Amino acid sequence: MPIISPSILAADFANLQRDVEMLNNSDADWIHVDIMDGVFVPNISFGIPVTKAISKHAKKPLDVHLMIEKPENYVQQFKNAGAEIISVHYEACEHLHRNLQQIKALGCKAGVAINPHTNVSLLEDTIKDIDLVCVMSVNPGFGGQKFIENTYAKVARLKELILKNNASTLIEIDGGVNAENARPLIDAGADVLVAGSFVFNSSNPEDTILKLKSV
Ligand code: DX5
Ligand code: ZN
Repeated sequence: MPIISPSILAADFANLQRDVEMLNNSDADWIHVDIMDGVFVPNISFGIPVTKAISKHAKKPLDVHLMIEKPENYVQQFKNAGAEIISVHYEACEHLHRNLQQIKALGCKAGVAINPHTNVSLLEDTIKDIDLVCVMSVNPGFGGQKFIENTYAKVARLKELILKNNASTLIEIDGGVNAENARPLIDAGADVLVAGSFVFNSSNPEDTILKLKSV
């Protein structure tokens, strides 16, 4: 069964506590927290105080996705705000290996997110140091975008790379995930599914989470 990590980006920000409690009561495994800085991506979401507020109510691990420049300057603060998994973007890191060590030294799981144009072969030399690869299946910056079909082939290639290196890296899919693409993604090798609008825009988010969990 996949790990389900609903994205709080699609929640009602004026009712965050209510929406976090809904996730606590659901079959969600993690809570995906999207941080956008308006520089690395053309949008701003929220930052450290809001992450701390989410963490105060969350009973599930916070899976923090940093869509920001210079993530090394902020990982400590996100750890302090309650992050258990921290993903940095491959495209934002000049010293990816150092950044991964830094995240692990804080006691967090270290993730690397890759944009749709980034080839998985670029992770060959770090895959054994990566706890999770977040494969972007949309261009990062906005919820509610259309899933990019090339993701299936990419996930299959990433799975091969992981197996070839005897790594235990998890594959997470982020963007446009729904009940139709969930099963083929899992078959291609996905372990974790992020879903924002598909969960929060549905009439019964808890049912939708269960549906994704049991596809
Ligand atoms: C996109 C974010 C995603 C987003 C997913 O930049 O990283 O996590 O919230 O939202 P949906 O599921 O609506 O595509
Ligand atoms: Zn995300």
